[in-house]
Amino acid sequence: MGLSNKELPRLGFLYLDYVLRFFDHSNFKGWPNKIETVVYHWKNDKERFIKEVKRKKIDVLIGNVPSTAYETFREIARELPHVRFIPSLDTQFSNKSKENVTRFAWKYGLPIPKTYIYYNHDNAYKFLKKAKYPKIVKKSYGPSNYGGYFVHKVDSYEEAKELFAEKKYHPMYFQDFVPMEADIRVMLIGHKPVCAFWRRAPEGEWLTNTSQGGSMDYMDVPKSVLDLAVKTSKAARAEYWACDIAYGKDGKVRILECATAFAAFPYIRDWIGEYLMWSLSEGRFRKPNIPMFNWEELGKIDASLLRTMRHIQFGAYSPSYDGAYFGKKKKNYGGKEVYIHKLDRKYKMYDVKRRWHEEWPSEKWNYQDKLALNPAKSKTKKSVKDAPHPTKDESSESDANEAKITKSELKDFLTSIDGIGKKKVKKLVEHFGSVDDVVGVIHQNPSILEEVKGFTAKLTKKIEKAWKKLLK
Ligand SMILES: Nc1ncnc2c1ncn2[C@@H]1O[C@H](COP(=O)(O)OP(=O)(O)O)[C@@H](O)[C@H]1O
Ligand SMILES: [Mg+2]
Repeated sequence: MGLSNKELPRLGFLYLDYVLRFFDHSNFKGWPNKIETVVYHWKNDKERFIKEVKRKKIDVLIGNVPSTAYETFREIARELPHVRFIPSLDTQFSNKSKENVTRFAWKYGLPIPKTYIYYNHDNAYKFLKKAKYPKIVKKSYGPSNYGGYFVHKVDSYEEAKELFAEKKYHPMYFQDFVPMEADIRVMLIGHKPVCAFWRRAPEGEWLTNTSQGGSMDYMDVPKSVLDLAVKTSKAARAEYWACDIAYGKDGKVRILECATAFAAFPYIRDWIGEYLMWSLSEGRFRKPNIPMFNWEELGKIDASLLRTMRHIQFGAYSPSYDGAYFGKKKKNYGGKEVYIHKLDRKYKMYDVKRRWHEEWPSEKWNYQDKLALNPAKSKTKKSVKDAPHPTKDESSESDANEAKITKSELKDFLTSIDGIGKKKVKKLVEHFGSVDDVVGVIHQNPSILEEVKGFTAKLTKKIEKAWKKLLK
């Protein structure tokens, strides 16, 4: 089972000048072929970068894109439809800004503190005048936006006004203040939690970020938190993922942040490499076995030692092997006593597949450039009048205004072409994962259809022609 050396996709690392590298070759120990490296040099480097990826015949580009390069990389990805980005630019949507995290959570009905995003400042001040306090004000977007340095608590309209006057944040992004016990960082691979820890605020403080002197521990992360993290990872279709979840004094859980770029011990990045090698080789390499709550035990090791530990592997649970730690160990979880190895069946590691359609196209979702304060800089000029004025109602914002092709419409279209029957349509949907993905392939690069048995170059040409006719 699995692909031979020749059949394996050609991998490349996506690096950017001045940006910390999340992966390197050591995380992909045992990959038999050369892994290429492509470095983005900022400033007008797009065309050269695209050429290099093409010249090196890379199939899969692995790495995180920093927020300030996000929109450029959406353009780059469009020009490289044959290349799979891991994580996809859609998965990385939340990396760009806090606004994007919010829009992602709104779309999927994921709980977050009540959030307000205003591009129209007059409307924001109108709202803030009548609002209840305290509120938390955040800078939505910026190069080094982490660690709570751009997060502020305001207790009155006057304070809010003063803060915005000084900081000049745009959009104006703020949230209801949520009193919380702590916040919890959960890291996932293939939607399976692999590490989780509490971060508590120092006495009398409200910021739970440890960068500001709080404490952390790995014990007894609640089920509601892990379940929300899994749901979030699935919504983002993330190969790997981290979530910061607020554990409220009211007992409720809310997402504070989520992203594919996060600080992680090297052994966690090794696990991600191992996972990707398994997934991309279609099972030739071993799927990492990462038991639930391993972090409670590994977390007992001194952090400075943990930082040096590499390629940590666990054996699989086997009922006949007594003395196996993860086979014997019970845990109180979600109000019940459970065996940890049974939780491993519940929290599966999924094989995340490539998607073929764009979920968050910039034409629609890049409000930040469309509604920039200095319109001379933005490509598409739009008056501030057109700015969305999110109110309470926006939490129920839906995608209803997107033109979508239904399954039966796709079937009608395809079966109208000579040589395609219902069976072939079914095969396509199975291969690419969904109706939207098939439509995405036909729209972006029909030749990719040839991956599916029975779809010859001739047939895909026909489909391409029919599609163009349909769009006229
Ligand atoms: N709505 C909120 N209510 C109360 N505390 C919050 C709220 N949002 C953030 N915080 C606190 O501020 C910290 C930093 O906020 P976060 O959104 O994670 O920004 P950063 O990018 O700076 O980490 C959080 O870890 C949490 O302790
Ligand atoms: Mg944070």
